Amino acid sequence: MNDKYEIIEDSDDIPSNPTNNPCIDDLINARFSRRGFFKGLMATSAVVGAGIATRGVAKAQSPSTLTFKSIPQKITETHAVADGYDASVLIRWGDKVVADAPAFVPGQVDANAQNKQFGYNCDYVGYMPLPVGSQNSDHGLLCVSHEYTNAELMWSGLKDAMDASEEQALHEIAAHGHSVIEVKKTGGKWQVVDGSDYARRISPIDTEMQITGPAAGHDRLKTNTDPTGTRVIGTLNNCAGGKTPWGTVLIAEENFNGYFGGDIAKTSEERNYKRLGISQDSWYSWVKYFDRFNVEKDPNEPNKFGWMVEIDPYDPTSMPKKRTALGRFKHEGATVIINKDNSVVAYSGDDQRFDYLYKFIAANKYNPNDRAANMDLLENGTLFVAQFHEDGSLDWMPLIFGEGPLTAENDFHSQADVLIEARRAADLLGATQMDRPEDVEPNPVNGKVYVMLTNNSKRKEGNAANPRAANPHGHVLELTPPGGRGKDADHTASRFTWDIMIAAGNPAVADDKAVYHPAAESWVSCPDNMAIDHRGRLWISSDGAPKSDIPDGMHATDVDGPGRALTKFFFACPVGAEMCGPEFTPDGKTLFLAVQHPADGSSYDAPSTRWPDFQAAMPPRPSVVAVTKNDGGEIAG
Ligand code: FEO
Ligand code: CA
Ligand code: CA
Repeated sequence: MNDKYEIIEDSDDIPSNPTNNPCIDDLINARFSRRGFFKGLMATSAVVGAGIATRGVAKAQSPSTLTFKSIPQKITETHAVADGYDASVLIRWGDKVVADAPAFVPGQVDANAQNKQFGYNCDYVGYMPLPVGSQNSDHGLLCVSHEYTNAELMWSGLKDAMDASEEQALHEIAAHGHSVIEVKKTGGKWQVVDGSDYARRISPIDTEMQITGPAAGHDRLKTNTDPTGTRVIGTLNNCAGGKTPWGTVLIAEENFNGYFGGDIAKTSEERNYKRLGISQDSWYSWVKYFDRFNVEKDPNEPNKFGWMVEIDPYDPTSMPKKRTALGRFKHEGATVIINKDNSVVAYSGDDQRFDYLYKFIAANKYNPNDRAANMDLLENGTLFVAQFHEDGSLDWMPLIFGEGPLTAENDFHSQADVLIEARRAADLLGATQMDRPEDVEPNPVNGKVYVMLTNNSKRKEGNAANPRAANPHGHVLELTPPGGRGKDADHTASRFTWDIMIAAGNPAVADDKAVYHPAAESWVSCPDNMAIDHRGRLWISSDGAPKSDIPDGMHATDVDGPGRALTKFFFACPVGAEMCGPEFTPDGKTLFLAVQHPADGSSYDAPSTRWPDFQAAMPPRPSVVAVTKNDGGEIAG
């Protein structure tokens, strides 16, 4: 344990993996030690020994291809972006989404208004060009997920979300889900198109969704309000997400467990719910007012959450679809790549300490000329979980009913059971325990796959082979499919290789054992979301940087060449906020960023910032920011 930092225990991340499956840290340490990683023997990575000497200084000899000058890692009440760039607020919590939405009124409790306005805690941002299938970088749809709510920052006098009234609870429910807005760049500035026909709010108040795939209609999904097991109202805790090449958006249901309460021992799903962290200790007051959140009253309702949801933003009347074939766990997000044989591969992480990394291969192939034929590709396929080996290889193990331990002997009676309890199925297969997998994205330029592992302060101690006695800052893994670079990479292969690209932490703190390029200009803590620009460079957002030291924000680095792992700092969040999004337009000239929970840790009555309005009556408001270069050029180009 590094005592320099106060390790905040995430209440949303109580480990629930009961197995002794090998931990990724054990394997990383074996590789570090085997390859002399910490002795600087890696060809393209090295330990940064004596701090970020170059921070804030553009070094003429820097091998980085990123052309911006790093900004200081300094916490302030407002945001900051690199010189030569503009970061303008595009839409804030409470702003109008659908045509008849009322104006935001600070302190108001009004679920009907909220259900037409931009929700709270913007996380995933997907830019979808208009028209569908185009590369238009000046006009499109912005699809934004609203992960959760901070009651104490939304209204006066509330210390705990469990104290929220029924009216406030309804408002919170309406502030969850997703927003689709139409955006247009005119004269170099992005604006929301008022009264757009595409504008849509998706929320757990009233958005009906279809449950598709192998678990649809299963008895374990039948509830009081849906005896068919094929329908559900809404989606919960939508964290990161992804896009498909056929023009749909995938939004992930992450910490859905926290919305439910009641005694799980009174249900027939106790083992299942325990593994997902559902307990009496709900995080919200919703359970007090609405039966669906109480497992004693509607015991199967939690089985309708924890899925990936697919939305067609180009059709505002379309019904979102929960894709059970991708498994049920705490999905951080999912990103899709089309393999050279037109196979559809989706990578997804289960964001909890000691949980797993997954990929999905659709049963049917992608047809680049027929959007309609692609719309249900995620309905059927095979889910795999990763098992990492000390020799630098990893195996993708299929979760198929009837194979290996996934049989009636272990209480799996169908593929639906395997998917509903994907974590337990993966436990039995011996999947590798990870340090909270967040975004997982394939890089179309070099063909590799990048995995953000945000942190793990619960890792076992006393392992002599473990060079980091705890992992409060996380790391970035690089997976290499066989076949070659770019399109030659075979994402369907069952065996990949892996390596560590960045071991995050402060290089000035020896105990952190951080690993970057020696000329790194920023230090990363708690990598979370990511974007890959069209040159294949990695943009890393952070969530959970030690509040006494550095802000969360946006880092970027080359992945190949002499600037590999040379991190630079591009955007700083205001105090209390984490960095989400990030999303480029196809031309690389705009970077959309989501600033989530500004002023976190304070209250509505005494906020640590009133970002972004800075008006006395205005609370802090989670917002999406559009970043452009003042000269109109490509970001970091
Ligand atoms: Fe919602 Fe894993 O961050
Ligand atoms: Ca995240
Ligand atoms: Ca996060």
